[in-house]
Amino acid sequence: MEAARTALAEKPPSLDGLLALAAPDMAAVDALIRRHMDSPVPVIPALADHLIAGSAKRLRPLLTVAAARLAGARDDACLKLAAAVEFIHTATLLHDDVVDSSQLRRGRVAAHLIWGAPSSVLVGDFLFARAFELMVGSGSMPALEILARASRVIAEGEVLQLTRAHDMDLSQEVYLDIIRAKTAELFAAAAEAGAVSAGAPPERCRALRQYGQDLGLAFQLVDDALDYSGDSATLGKNPGDDFREGKATLPLLLAMARTPTEREFWVRTVDRRDQADGDFERARELMRQTGALDATLALAAGYAASAKAALADFGANAWRPALEDLADFAVLRRA
Ligand code: IPE
Ligand code: MG
Ligand code: MG
Repeated sequence: MEAARTALAEKPPSLDGLLALAAPDMAAVDALIRRHMDSPVPVIPALADHLIAGSAKRLRPLLTVAAARLAGARDDACLKLAAAVEFIHTATLLHDDVVDSSQLRRGRVAAHLIWGAPSSVLVGDFLFARAFELMVGSGSMPALEILARASRVIAEGEVLQLTRAHDMDLSQEVYLDIIRAKTAELFAAAAEAGAVSAGAPPERCRALRQYGQDLGLAFQLVDDALDYSGDSATLGKNPGDDFREGKATLPLLLAMARTPTEREFWVRTVDRRDQADGDFERARELMRQTGALDATLALAAGYAASAKAALADFGANAWRPALEDLADFAVLRRA
């Protein structure tokens, strides 16, 4: 595993191949997104544009398009679903930044700091509603079912995380349940809905769902590591948000388990959230020393490998290596 990561680090994975393949589809998805952001109520397009025009990678709609094309889609049925996936994602981000009191998103001041939390929450609802209009417009009842279920599961994951937020005794199992629901479910549903819209047979739809879920788990594990090791200029959001909230993510859970002599420090900063200058830096240092960050990234690399393995039965098709690169990118990304 370490050797594989070193080899990858020498040739950093790039999304260029995937982005080039998907460029015409993603331009059409972008046009759909723009058109459906519109509303006669001015604050809605203003707030939505602030978030949607930020420095976003559009990974989730890309996944819908790529899954559909890999599964042999010849028509454009996947495009409305891809736009819906991006709307579901941005809706959850608007809500999440209010819940997490986050100040920076996609390199911009968080919307709730400009328009207020009530507007942010309500525009999030608007984007959810738009997503459902687009899904109905796609005409695919099975895809609608997949993405409706994902919307419900994401909400469950966010609420579960909220109620277990600074639980120092959270098990790794429950942590994985949380990230599977709040993040991996949309990746899984995005890929599965793409495959379904292409009329792929059930085993191909299941394989792409598995790919999406494992990719999503890898993605969130890395996200949780970057909250301690990243910088805001590259990330487009502020590192340290999880620690400030005392959020029990895997790097923190591992660092706490590996430093029993620091119990007092963790109880004060995580359980009581009584934090002072320098505490975040100390937590980060303990994470580095104990290998908690490396262990988190190693687990992410394992999920990325299993994501790639899920594509094994797909034949020669340019989309397959592009999706394999996406799995590597999810692990080695800095942003
Ligand atoms: C966000 O999880 C998940 C959803 C929006 C559903 P996080 O709170 O961990 O993600 P960031 O760090 O704010 O992006
Ligand atoms: Mg958040
Ligand atoms: Mg959150």
